[in-house]
Amino acid sequence: MTLLTYLRRKLGLTGTKLGCAEGGCGACTVMISKFHPHLKCIVHHAVNACLAPVCSLHHCAVITVDGIGTVASRLHPVQERIAKAHGSQCGFCTPGMVMSMYTLLRNNPEPSMVDIEEAFQGNLCRCTGYRPILEGYKTFAKVLDFGLWYCALEDPTVLNQMYDPSKFIPLDPTQEVIFPPELLNLGKQPPRQMKFKGERVLWIQPSTLTELLDLKSHYPESKLVVGNTEVGIEMKFKNLLYPVILAPAYISELNSVQHTKQGIVFGAACTLTLLGEVLRDAVAKLPTYQTEVFKAILEQLRWFAGKQIRNVAAIGGNIMTASPISDLNPVFMAAACKLTTMSKDERRVLKMDDNFFPGYRKTALKPEEILLSIEIPYTKKGQYFSAFKQSPRQEDDIAIVTCGMNVVFKEGSNIVEKILLSFGGMAPTTVIPKTTCKKLIGSAWNEKLLEDACASLAEEMVLPPSAPGGMVPYRRTLTLSLFFKFYLTVKHYLAVDLQHENVTVEDVKPDYSSATELFHKDSPSSVQLFQAVPPGQSSEDFVGRPIMHLSALKQATGEAVYCDDIPCYENELHLALITSTKAHAHILSIDTGEAMTVPGVVAFVFAKDIPGSNITGPAFYDESVLAEKMVTCVGHIVGAVVADTQAHAQRAAKVVKITYDELKPIISIQVSTCFTMTITSLSLSFYIIGEIHIGGQEHFYLETNCTVAVPKGEDGEMELFVSTQTASKTQALVAKALGVPANRIVCRVKRMGGGFGGKESRSIILSTVVAVAASKVKRPVRCMLDRDEDMLVTGGRHPFLGRYKVGYMTSGKIIALDVTFYANAGNSKDLSFSIVERALFHMENSYNIPHVCGTGYMCKTNLPSNTAFRGFGGPQGMMVAESWMSDVALACGIPSYEVRRMNLYNEGDLTPFNQRLEQFTIGKCWEECLDISNYMKRQGAVEEFNRQHRWTKRGLSIIPTKFGISFTSVFLNQAGALVHIYTDGSVLLTHGGTEMGQGLHTKMVQVASRALGIPCSKIFISETSTNTVANTSPTAASASSDLNGMAVYNACQTLLQRLEPYKVKNPKGSWEDWVNAAYFDRVNLSANGFYKTPDLGYNFDSNSGRAFNYFSYGVSCSEVEIDCLTGRQKTLHTTIVMDVGKSLNPAIDIGQVEGAFMQGLGLFTLEELHYSPQGSLLTRGPGMYKIPAFGDIPVELQVSLLRDSPNDKAIFSSKAVGEPPLFMAASVFYAIKDAITAARSESGLSGPFRLDSPATSERIRNACEDRFTKLCPPAEPGTYTPWAVRV
Ligand SMILES: Cc1cc2nc3c(=O)[nH]c(=O)nc-3n(C[C@H](O)[C@H](O)[C@H](O)COP(=O)(O)OP(=O)(O)OC[C@H]3O[C@@H](n4cnc5c(N)ncnc54)[C@H](O)[C@@H]3O)c2cc1C
Ligand code: FES
Ligand code: FES
Repeated sequence: MTLLTYLRRKLGLTGTKLGCAEGGCGACTVMISKFHPHLKCIVHHAVNACLAPVCSLHHCAVITVDGIGTVASRLHPVQERIAKAHGSQCGFCTPGMVMSMYTLLRNNPEPSMVDIEEAFQGNLCRCTGYRPILEGYKTFAKVLDFGLWYCALEDPTVLNQMYDPSKFIPLDPTQEVIFPPELLNLGKQPPRQMKFKGERVLWIQPSTLTELLDLKSHYPESKLVVGNTEVGIEMKFKNLLYPVILAPAYISELNSVQHTKQGIVFGAACTLTLLGEVLRDAVAKLPTYQTEVFKAILEQLRWFAGKQIRNVAAIGGNIMTASPISDLNPVFMAAACKLTTMSKDERRVLKMDDNFFPGYRKTALKPEEILLSIEIPYTKKGQYFSAFKQSPRQEDDIAIVTCGMNVVFKEGSNIVEKILLSFGGMAPTTVIPKTTCKKLIGSAWNEKLLEDACASLAEEMVLPPSAPGGMVPYRRTLTLSLFFKFYLTVKHYLAVDLQHENVTVEDVKPDYSSATELFHKDSPSSVQLFQAVPPGQSSEDFVGRPIMHLSALKQATGEAVYCDDIPCYENELHLALITSTKAHAHILSIDTGEAMTVPGVVAFVFAKDIPGSNITGPAFYDESVLAEKMVTCVGHIVGAVVADTQAHAQRAAKVVKITYDELKPIISIQVSTCFTMTITSLSLSFYIIGEIHIGGQEHFYLETNCTVAVPKGEDGEMELFVSTQTASKTQALVAKALGVPANRIVCRVKRMGGGFGGKESRSIILSTVVAVAASKVKRPVRCMLDRDEDMLVTGGRHPFLGRYKVGYMTSGKIIALDVTFYANAGNSKDLSFSIVERALFHMENSYNIPHVCGTGYMCKTNLPSNTAFRGFGGPQGMMVAESWMSDVALACGIPSYEVRRMNLYNEGDLTPFNQRLEQFTIGKCWEECLDISNYMKRQGAVEEFNRQHRWTKRGLSIIPTKFGISFTSVFLNQAGALVHIYTDGSVLLTHGGTEMGQGLHTKMVQVASRALGIPCSKIFISETSTNTVANTSPTAASASSDLNGMAVYNACQTLLQRLEPYKVKNPKGSWEDWVNAAYFDRVNLSANGFYKTPDLGYNFDSNSGRAFNYFSYGVSCSEVEIDCLTGRQKTLHTTIVMDVGKSLNPAIDIGQVEGAFMQGLGLFTLEELHYSPQGSLLTRGPGMYKIPAFGDIPVELQVSLLRDSPNDKAIFSSKAVGEPPLFMAASVFYAIKDAITAARSESGLSGPFRLDSPATSERIRNACEDRFTKLCPPAEPGTYTPWAVRV
């Protein structure tokens, strides 16, 4: 059992969250303290509770978020600061953030900014964009650096501070919980053997090496477990079972560190954190030439997982896992480290060379042997060593290619005496290109050697085109590029070192020198600008003020209750889904025989168990609740198992056997012959035909889908607690499946740990199954999906292929556009129709194109149904627009900002769907963005930088956005609210919207507060439920504040009218006086409010009517730097100017802008879903699917809310903000494209070129064509089966 399960299920401490169960998100971070028997002191470590076996915690103290402070008693400063700095939106990641920071402060109460950034390498947040978390925690840093690099504050109406750090509770390290003395005493006593026997596993913690060796000889198949970061994953996700586990964590020989003449010997159980500390110390103390290998290891450790993993993972674990993409093994191998192994009868010393890994995940150890230690050698004069790692994301990511490179020169010369290169990611094991190494011996370190090495590596480091992991040409190119970096690095050292020997070696050319630099990014700095409330606004009127999210403090203490935090009902059962492993097949049979033998299993649920209708679907009834005869995607839900625990249910679900008759699946967008060039009838002198593919995106809300269904036992009543954006639709479809009227089903939503569209309709597929199961077993049933299940079954953002023909004049003016969108809809319609429709409504982005023709196709495929995702097709439509815009600029040779500016709409222009643009503010946003980003100066600096750097290039781009606000299905533009005033004057507010972190409830309280003229503290929102406000629209389309805000306002107006006579009668009375007087006068103090957006309704046939209530606008500018050799990029600067009307709450709005921007950054530069040719999702968790992390924040980030731009179409002149800023991240994509353009020009390439989204390091590298890419051409398409296909 993991510590997390123990905390949450056994102790009911639900503050610690489950986000992934694989050490990849940090939501489960807790602090573990123990007396370290070898270091002889108490150590505090942040660890992932989801991977920590409870058995491993003997003698440890565990501190969780619940234990360090509460709202009612005392907040801990780390809890207070993240909340007040607006660093908690949905709050699901917040406890993990709090505990990472708490642990850092326990070890170091005055950390540096680098320490703080390092502490968060293992924590993910999908909402905030990270900036406010760092900003809040910067206040603990030794040197306070708020990075206010833009100062426009002479204008008193402009503010840049959203909280007051001077009011924060000071940190007082003397007040922390002490390490329990009884544990200290126990820890100092000699260890003794311990055994824990579970249902399926025997855990033995031997106390001496002899005991361990005896046990290993007795149980040769047993597994040694130290950090469990590998074994834990294997048991959870790969279904492996290790019945005997030996835990050597306390055996002194395995934990010792010895300095010898040859190097440093580390016991195999030493953690990576300890390894880092010892090596850092050695580097500081020893002559630099001795520590070349140590420095390389430290560089690898900088990017090795997050702190939580490094704190527990052992060196031996990394070696013995024998992973082909291990970060340390190539370094150990290139350094020729020595390994000592032991068994009961034998002690061996093995050289770590390629004989050590005889095959995939195999080592030379015998079953009865253990790895005792590793010796890492010193280097000597004339020896140079480097290590490199290239991964999709810089922080906490596994490598694509990783390597160690070691060269020794003949004394006083540049002639190679020995060279050892070792690569990971290029074969099923870590490999040494022996032929290349041999060839280079005796050569001088010059251009000829480089050429020979590259030619030889290109021949030797080959991969079959269908190699697992894909990216074959990129991986091959990387081996050359990384060698080139090593070559230049060594060349530079030789030039310096051999000077003393009077040997002349040419130094690296200045324009090449950046290729030798290690990755470095400055600490981020930022500024946020917003408009002050008008002078004279009452201090009790909070509208327009940056007040904190009302749940933020509870979220920071872990007291906020999410669906799975609801205490278990006494007779509750757990559900696990049975899903299809085939993309397209007839179901022939289902065998539950073996599953039935799993302990605790209570029932199975299949289609025949559905009491009502099996037909379902949020917009069209084209789906089934449970697949009956046919499955149409991998992950299609076929049935479910209900058992006493989640572990039992999941174990049983995995052994249900389904036999299939397979059919051919369709996975990719089928680009048919329907792409027509209707535009050719116009006489165009200049036109471009182009194409861009925009990959899909996983929502990756930190809280996965969860439902608790509680049958009420009479009249078919059922209460559902759900993490959903759509309470009413859940109610309706559950009622349909159960065959009861909707009035028997109550759906309740307290809050979600993020939604982003992913819980707008797809949450229902789980809720319905859970409800059917609960109705069958007549007991409460709960299911929170594991991250891999959630990613598998729920679908994501639609991948789009955009094909276009665009006609332009040589001046850059665009005159005609024909565009066709193909969206991969997956196996059902879901919301795809409206998504493609919205893409079409945004096909011209913000540009006035006189002649436009757009066509959209929903492509039905055998993938899980794709669905709503922040932007809802709009970003894809606009992304295609910016692709043709970039093509035109490149074709005309005019700077892209000029071409964009000249084509922008103006006030009063008509869109292609005949909507007049009124209160059009893009021009204003554009000018402010150019101005405060210093665009023109930046442009000059970028050009100068690019002239001086051959292998590092910078790029710049400025991009507008115009986003239509309203549901395009007119009927959804309605909302309701219910307001009760109680006799003590407190107000209970409910409305149709759900809270998923976006601050909707906070804004609604602000609206009600102004409307009723009472402080926010008197108003409370408990939850959203279908029995208080009926027939609600999903919380989506960015319109929830507009719609629900007006409904709340209307309800408040009704109540105010009822209270008016009592106010008149007693003008000096208080709110409570009036409420009481009205009550005794028998006045109804409850009112509901309703709102529908007026004058909406676009007609495609007549191209008339208003599609949108209004538009939100924004402009952003970004500057990036790319490493042309690896494809790695960093965003140096982003300025966003966003028109949100008169902001209801600038802190929440800026939080939405920054969070959406970072999500867009993930969409356009990082996040990639890989599907096998058979339609199976290969990227099912944070280990494989990378969302942006702390390290991806722009170095400088500036957000300005446009001032003086009221909007007369929404509540209190505000504007929608949830989705529109997502597209602002396209400026990063096009800045990357700009940088690639500069790199290509070095190879004589110019003009338009295709760059698909996301612009990953692979795509960037492949687009920067050069002498190295030429040596690694891709295989001919169609000649092989790729590992993954583009969908
Ligand atoms: C989120 C996450 C991120 C990661 N990031 C990286 C990364 O960036 N780079 C990277 O290289 N790896 C990474 N890993 C992989 C993993 O963390 C490392 O391989 C780690 O070093 C394993 O150590 P452990 O103590 O946790 O191993 P365990 O899971 O405890 O054991 C791993 C294996 O080693 C065996 N073993 C351990 N010690 C001995 C011994 N003394 N003798 C014999 N066999 C032994 C075990 O039996 C088992 O088979 C990551 C893992 C996770 C979960
Ligand atoms: S839940 Fe443990 S790291 Fe994600
Ligand atoms: S606030 Fe971080 S995931 Fe929602």
